[in-house]
Formats: sequence, C-alpha cells, structure tokens
Amino acid sequence: MSTKNDILAVLESERARFVSGQELAEKLNISRTAVWKAVKSLEEGGHRIIAVTNNGYKLAPDSNLMSEEGVLANLSQKYKSCPITVLDITDSTNTQAKKLALDGAGHGTLLLAEEQTAGRGRNGKSFFSPRGVGLYMSVILKPVLGMEEPQMITIAAAVAVCKAVEKLTDKKPRIKWVNDVYLDGKKVCGILTEAATDFESGGIESIIVGVGVDCATKEDSLPQELRGIVGTLGDDAISRNRLAAEILAGILDGFDTLGSGEIIDAYRARSLMFGKDISFMRGSERLNARVTGISDSGGLLVRLTIGENIELQSGEVAILSLTNE
Ligand code: BTN
Repeated sequence: MSTKNDILAVLESERARFVSGQELAEKLNISRTAVWKAVKSLEEGGHRIIAVTNNGYKLAPDSNLMSEEGVLANLSQKYKSCPITVLDITDSTNTQAKKLALDGAGHGTLLLAEEQTAGRGRNGKSFFSPRGVGLYMSVILKPVLGMEEPQMITIAAAVAVCKAVEKLTDKKPRIKWVNDVYLDGKKVCGILTEAATDFESGGIESIIVGVGVDCATKEDSLPQELRGIVGTLGDDAISRNRLAAEILAGILDGFDTLGSGEIIDAYRARSLMFGKDISFMRGSERLNARVTGISDSGGLLVRLTIGENIELQSGEVAILSLTNE
C-alpha cells in the first residue's frame, strides 16, 4: 500500500476524531512532511479532509468517496480478507465481476464503482448509475456444487440491503417481490443476480450478486421516465463505504445460512406484498390476484380473482396500489 492509502486507512477507521500529524507519522513510520504531502494528494483525489492546527486531520463528514480502505474500516475481522476493488468508472460492475470470477477471483470478492456507463438491470433493462450518488457493487459468490435455490441468494441480498439501511439510518425499507427495495413507495435499490458459467464444463462457476442503491440522487436529475418511480435514501451523509461493507457482510452471512429459514423469515418481515392486489402476465394473458404470502422457497403465493391459489416462482408483478396496507 502507498503512504496515501495508509493514511486514508487510518482516517477512515478514526472518522470520529482528529488524528495528529505526529500520531500518523509515528504509526506509519514516516516524516511529518510525508504525512502532509499524502494528505494533499488525498485532497487532490477528491477526499475532503479537515486540518486543524494543534489537532490534526479528520475526514469531513461529507467526504464520501468510495475506497478499499473505507470499506475495510467498516468490515468485521471475519471479512477483512475479502478482496475489494473500487473503480472510478466502469461499464457495469456485474460485467466486470463476471470476468474476474472466470479468471479465478474468489468467494467474497467485492467490486465497486463510483459510476457505471452501462449499468444493467433485470430483463435487459438499463440501470441509471450517476457518479457519486449511488452505490454500485457486485459480490462474487462461489456456489457449492448442486446449489438448488439460486433465488434464495437474491432474497438474502434484498434482506442484507434492508438490514444495512435500517442500521445506518432511521428508515424502514420494504421489499417488493422478488428483489426490489422500496422506501416511501419508490424503488431505492435493485438487485441483479447472474451466473458466471464455465465455458468448458457448462457448470455454474460463480454467482454474481449486483446491488444498486440510490443514496442521494436529486429527483430533478433523474431521466424523465424514472421520475416518481425511482426514489433515494435521501441522505447525502450516508457513508457509501459503510453501506457497502454492511451489505457485503449481510450477503456473505446470508449465503452461509441459506437453508436455515432465517433468511425467508427476515424477508417476509420486510415484504410489502402481503394483501396487495397485483397483476402479472401468464403467457399472453394478464391476470389479477391478491397476495396471500411468501412460500418457504421465496415464491409469491397469490389467490387469482378467478378463485385459484397459485405460487409464482419468478417474473415481474405490478402492484395495483402501493398504499392499501
Ligand atoms: C434491477 O433493478 O433491475 C436490478 C439493478 C441492478 C443494478 C446493479 S448496480 C451494480 C451491478 N452492476 C450492474 O450493471 N447492475 C448491478
């Protein structure tokens, strides 16, 4: 690691207090001048640092650039060895993570970007990914052979996002089946789970879980077609590094306990679907139904208006009214 990165690591893990130049110099075994130069270089790179004579240095509360050091400072010991890469700009972290996975990147590898130029959503849709105001992350999971329910990984990721938001804010996000996270009637997070398939064996080599969270986009900067639909956590001060760390740990914890029933209980507790009237396509037919529950495998249990009870395993559903609680 460079001196600059070493200093950033200390400032990220000591965000609450000023760290003196002397302390930094001693800790890193460098001169005070080297500390000063590294701080300047961090500032040039976009980090906002408060420097107070006789007190030292501190990251400004609104200094919110993503970095490996910033994520690591917020990870428990259990996950500190996860490989983390932060890209300034990329097409799609999921596309890049797939390549990394096929090149041998291990379980728990995290890829982040400040901005995506070709962010991808489900069903071939694009995912709006402007610079600096969202969290765009992909996690590589190495599935055990014969993993039966990949849908449960997406469910675990949705739960991980909700728990992270609950921990970092006073907000109570809800999950729209199967994997969109909503706040105040608007979507604030989408999840795209993909398989990286080994070309020769045809087997699933890895699962890539892509998570996009809208942290602080202003409504008037959204493309017209997303206004009124896409929401935001609405918090400039939310640390995206911390959010990424919490979500990563939640996904990895969830992956370890997929079969236990804990995940699905946590998912049900946060679902906004119960009792909702929905519509969806079956073949070429549009059907209306009322949601009666979530099955143990994450399917949506519904009662069709024609009286039949069925379970939906996948697909898109439209909620006819988001407000009939
Ligand atoms: C959806 O809402 O349909 C899913 C959106 C998933 C977006 C995330 S952002 C990080 C990762 N990279 C992508 O290109 N997509 C996912």
